[in-house]
Amino acid sequence: MKYQVLFCSLFAFCLLFGQSSSYAQTSVTIPIESKDYALILQTDADQRLGITHFGKRLSDAAEYAGIKALYKHNDGNAGIYNNVYTPSGSWSLVEPALQIIHADGNTSTELRYVSHRKEMLANQVSQTSVLLRDPVYATEVTLYFKVYPQNNVFEQWSEIKNAEKGNIRLGKYASANLYFMGSDYYLRHYHGTWAGEMKPEETRLPFGIHTLDSKLGARANLYQPPTFMLSFDQPATENSGKVLLANLAWSGNFKIDFEMDSYHNLRLIAGINPHASEYQLAAGQSFKTPALIYAYGENGIGEVSRNLHSWARNFRVLDGKGSRLTLLNNWEATYFDFDEKKLVGLFAGAKKLGVDLFLLDDGWFGNKYPRNGDVAGLGDWQENVKKLPHGIGYLVEEASKAGVKFGIWVEPEMVNPKSELYEKHPDWVIRQPERPEHYFRNQLVLDLSNPEVQDFVFGILDKLFTQNPDIAFIKWDCNAVIYNAHSAYLEKQKMPQTHLYVDYVNGLYSVLERLRKKYPVVPMMLCSGGGGRVDYGALKYFTEFWVSDNTDPLERIFQQWEYSYYYPAITHCAHITDWSKVGIKFRTDVAMMGKMGYDIVVDHLKPEELEFSQQAIKNYQSISDLIWHGDLYRLVSPWQNPIASSMFVSPQKDRAIVFNYVVSNRYENTFSTAPIKLQGLDPVKKYRLTELNVFPGTRSSINATTVYSGDLLMTVGFNPSLSLRRTSVLVEVKEVR
Ligand code: GLA
Repeated sequence: MKYQVLFCSLFAFCLLFGQSSSYAQTSVTIPIESKDYALILQTDADQRLGITHFGKRLSDAAEYAGIKALYKHNDGNAGIYNNVYTPSGSWSLVEPALQIIHADGNTSTELRYVSHRKEMLANQVSQTSVLLRDPVYATEVTLYFKVYPQNNVFEQWSEIKNAEKGNIRLGKYASANLYFMGSDYYLRHYHGTWAGEMKPEETRLPFGIHTLDSKLGARANLYQPPTFMLSFDQPATENSGKVLLANLAWSGNFKIDFEMDSYHNLRLIAGINPHASEYQLAAGQSFKTPALIYAYGENGIGEVSRNLHSWARNFRVLDGKGSRLTLLNNWEATYFDFDEKKLVGLFAGAKKLGVDLFLLDDGWFGNKYPRNGDVAGLGDWQENVKKLPHGIGYLVEEASKAGVKFGIWVEPEMVNPKSELYEKHPDWVIRQPERPEHYFRNQLVLDLSNPEVQDFVFGILDKLFTQNPDIAFIKWDCNAVIYNAHSAYLEKQKMPQTHLYVDYVNGLYSVLERLRKKYPVVPMMLCSGGGGRVDYGALKYFTEFWVSDNTDPLERIFQQWEYSYYYPAITHCAHITDWSKVGIKFRTDVAMMGKMGYDIVVDHLKPEELEFSQQAIKNYQSISDLIWHGDLYRLVSPWQNPIASSMFVSPQKDRAIVFNYVVSNRYENTFSTAPIKLQGLDPVKKYRLTELNVFPGTRSSINATTVYSGDLLMTVGFNPSLSLRRTSVLVEVKEVR
């Protein structure tokens, strides 16, 4: 009570008199600049830090200091809406970035500018850190802005330090709190479910708050990813408009709020979802938030997206500049029904096809409770002796004899209640001890907040690699959400249960960190019953992700299109399967737009299908460098047209590959036969165009001898001659010297 009185009087003093003498400094301007754009932070008279500009950078940096004076709020509340990390419980009544219950129980926080510094890291990357402090409480917040200047990409996170004498509790702890001054805002965001991930929705943001969020815990993106596109003033197109592409690099619960005020200014507050996640910090402890990654540009979505891809390949995705393995997966070919003999037969198929690797999927483990379906065995990572009497080692050897590498599926974060693991360690399982269990795909999630469980999960992979050093690929799955969130470990430690969602993800990252220290290069696919967990937090550790269990090629055109805004094609695992009865050419052409693989029984292919596939893999090898490392141009959107078209261009602009598809089977005259304007070529260069993946027994209608200028191909275009008989056409563009 005494403290409260003291606090209130200090607080009232600050409010009434604006500033104490230690804060009576002159205004500070902090420019955070990329190659073309700048985020400008400036203090107000009370040393509160606000955002006064986000957009093109000025040629004379000295002029930034004058920006603040050019904006006036009618209600005299300048510095309130545009705050760079809005605290709660004091002067601000808008959606906060930070909410603290202080050691003495007080719920008010204020943040004032203390200092900042800019460091240059490798590769021209800069990092600006800004220290803010509460004038009444010793709590500190440091905001970090890492800028990748060449890509116009910003990475922003915060660190909250408890410098008070007792525990504080964080009710909200956003990664970033941005502020935009525009007229209208158009948000492209996503919803979905299993096999229907990344369904876009474009919303003109209304006044008030629009929220994207997940509370699923694990497989957190099943219904909504922390990924969005924000256009300013009007919806951006591929080649025009101001647009920001963003992703919260966090593989758990998230909350992203867009709050528009009546001046048409927009506040964006993004971070871990505070839902059921109040976080306690002991004296001296800090909390580091995940980063919000955003790429910005004023020349349309295409350029921003290419910049984001380049950033991802160079700075984020594991082995982003490297190559990838083509593979044959047995999931859809066998499901759980296989044994050693059948698998060895499939190795021969992989070799015949010409892929690099065979990937053994779910079903290889569990003895007391064999994994013969998805109801049992998860958690018991010993080879099933009936199916695999000679173990994984034998399979690795046999694969090698057949001339292919060997990879394996794991789902190490999960457990079936029907398993030895569950019997031995019920306290390792996330469950409410007093309530009935609630399952997702007949399974439960292991408690990764517990270091013993982290060791167990690490141990699964470590044992596989130690016993079979030649394992060349891992598919890491995660099929369940977290129901009944409760941790026996946190209870034992006398830690708040509200730490579970956060500690789960940090526990997962610490396992992955450890794994990557010991096994830095093994390619690993991020899978979550399809695309249930795709973000730039996880992609630090993974080389690629499984777009969706839905491998219908038509569906994939749309899904891959949406993912392509944010993630480079080298990360999109795309397999040819029997999910759809569409001809193998169409299926293959679509899979080629990403990291290509198969999930079929090779011996079921007709001779001409096999011949086609063998040639297609060779073609893929010859163009994969373009797909993996080239620049992507989306030419014709399947959402607005009966066709889809996109192309990848080499950095030297001497080669490109154009993918064209019919996406509507309506009467053929209803789609245009007009040429498709190519992009990204050199107008002065001359090119020849050849059709790839021509099905045996058919002829290409493209004349491969004609030479076109880049100018013509980009101004007038090229006609791939799509029709209801030519529903998929791949065209290679090569410079003629
Ligand atoms: C998930 C994956 C599939 C497959 C199965 C195995 O659904 O997305 O690709 O691995 O699990 O159970």
